Amino acid sequence: MAEETEMLDPRSSRTRIRSILDAGDAMAGRRVVVGGWVRAGREQGHGAPDPFAFLDVNDGSCQGNLQLFVKGEVVGYPLARLTATGTSVLVEAVVRRDERAKHGVELAVTRVLEVGEVDAAAYPLPKTKTGCSLDPAYIRDFVHLRPRTYLISAVTRIRSELSFATDKYFRENDFLRVHTPIVTTSDCEGAGQMFQVTTLFSQAKKLEAELKENPAPSQADIDAAKLSVKAKGDIVAQLKSAQATKEEISAAVSDLKKAKEDVLTMEERSKLKPGIPYREDGSVAFEKDFFKCPSYLTVSGQLHLETLACSLGNVYTFGPTFRAENSHTSRHLAEFWMVEAEFAFANLQDDMDCAESYVKYLCQWLLDHCQEEMEFMVKSQDKEAIKRLKMVSSTPFERISYTKAVDILKDADGKFENKVEWGIDLASEHERYLTEVVFKKPVIVFNYPKGIKAFYMRLNDDQKRVAAMDVLVPKVGELIGGSQREERLDVLEQRMLDAGLPLEQYDKYLDIRRYGTVRHSGFGLGLERMILFATGLENIRDVIAFPRYPGRADV
Ligand code: 4AD
Ligand code: MG
Repeated sequence: MAEETEMLDPRSSRTRIRSILDAGDAMAGRRVVVGGWVRAGREQGHGAPDPFAFLDVNDGSCQGNLQLFVKGEVVGYPLARLTATGTSVLVEAVVRRDERAKHGVELAVTRVLEVGEVDAAAYPLPKTKTGCSLDPAYIRDFVHLRPRTYLISAVTRIRSELSFATDKYFRENDFLRVHTPIVTTSDCEGAGQMFQVTTLFSQAKKLEAELKENPAPSQADIDAAKLSVKAKGDIVAQLKSAQATKEEISAAVSDLKKAKEDVLTMEERSKLKPGIPYREDGSVAFEKDFFKCPSYLTVSGQLHLETLACSLGNVYTFGPTFRAENSHTSRHLAEFWMVEAEFAFANLQDDMDCAESYVKYLCQWLLDHCQEEMEFMVKSQDKEAIKRLKMVSSTPFERISYTKAVDILKDADGKFENKVEWGIDLASEHERYLTEVVFKKPVIVFNYPKGIKAFYMRLNDDQKRVAAMDVLVPKVGELIGGSQREERLDVLEQRMLDAGLPLEQYDKYLDIRRYGTVRHSGFGLGLERMILFATGLENIRDVIAFPRYPGRADV
């Protein structure tokens, strides 16, 4: 019994390193159990009768490490088993004051409960003092281990805080969190960048294996089976004319029935062809697919969100979004997380107000809750990172029309790779010039030409522009895309026809305009872009644990 208590207690009452570092002196003398991974370890007095080791351990709860002091006599085996970077340890220890330790406290280990050893020669992540010198591109090759680095653990906590702050912001502003589907049949952005969801390939593979095992019958097999049916039919006739017993006749009849069924099955099986099923006109037979029609991973939950907003008022969703654009830029992922808000009885002005206040809220949240992580970013990635968050959280965003933006950019023409003229889709270099060079703060560009924006955006009275807005921020360019939605049925139908979209596929979406239509607006914020902006990191592949991009979906 005593043994069981000993086994269970220390492990279940593990103290997170963050709370020890936060408490500092106040916890001195307390007995704790701590578990984590060694970031740097050093043994002293090796070979001497009383060797000891210092282990800088991190458990993911905060940026800082806690120093563990371990005596050789406590562990009873060579201290080298504990010191390699990456080693996991679970220890029982006493918190003690130590002026020389970075946080003013260290742990004096009284018992090592668990160790997960590391072969230092094979471990790919080097020991660094502060982690500032690790190249993000190098550690990208070890996505499974890089969460142990200062950089990726900081990014992960920032990500977690932004997710929490998102829920808090929208709750405080009376939005319902809703869940929109990931599998969908409609292309929300109309840009044809969807990943198809299908079981046709796996079905084909299964069929191929099945046919290998049990080949489809040939015509000769079917002919032989038909002859057998005929013979069995003759037997039934003979038995009947010979006035055989009821039992004999019914046995022969059921034999005949089975033979007939076998022929039907054989005929069906003879039609089976390996590979993807095609219709006679050569098109893919999607009626044989799982959803019985072409289906895709969502590029945006907006269309579903609109139907919810037009029933519930204010809604938002936060989920994975997929785009099959073959883009290798440092700002695009094939799978990213988007926060989308949608609200009824709201116009473009309301949309911009909400987007601005949400971004400010996120910046302030990071300043208040991720101080250490942000200080690390300033040291290792971008000197301006904290200054930028402060500026954005406290400065009104500039708001300019697309036409004005183009005029400004034209004045600076020659500075850009892409030529500027009214009607172009702004490139990242244009967006960054506006926000970084011209205004030096976030800029909301609104009223874009209809030709470069999605079909659902509300057409302005000039028939040339739509009530769209993009929030541009330094370091990143576009952070948010949004608009007032087209609520007039006839105008929307025309816009969809002009965009070449099949109206019947969007019939339910159009119903929202047929029944109780309402002015409504919304926007989407790319979470990874927000993290890029906050941290100053250069590549979007470093702000998500397992990035997906062309050629990369493993691990
Ligand atoms: O501007 P986008 O395409 O807008 C929409 O999808 C709207 N339906 C949103 C809405 O109104 N509900 O995308 C919104 C944001 C962009 O501003 C950008 O931050 C991010 O999503 N984004 C990406 N982030 C990473 N990788 C990609 N490939 C991205 N594409 C868009
Ligand atoms: Mg956009």
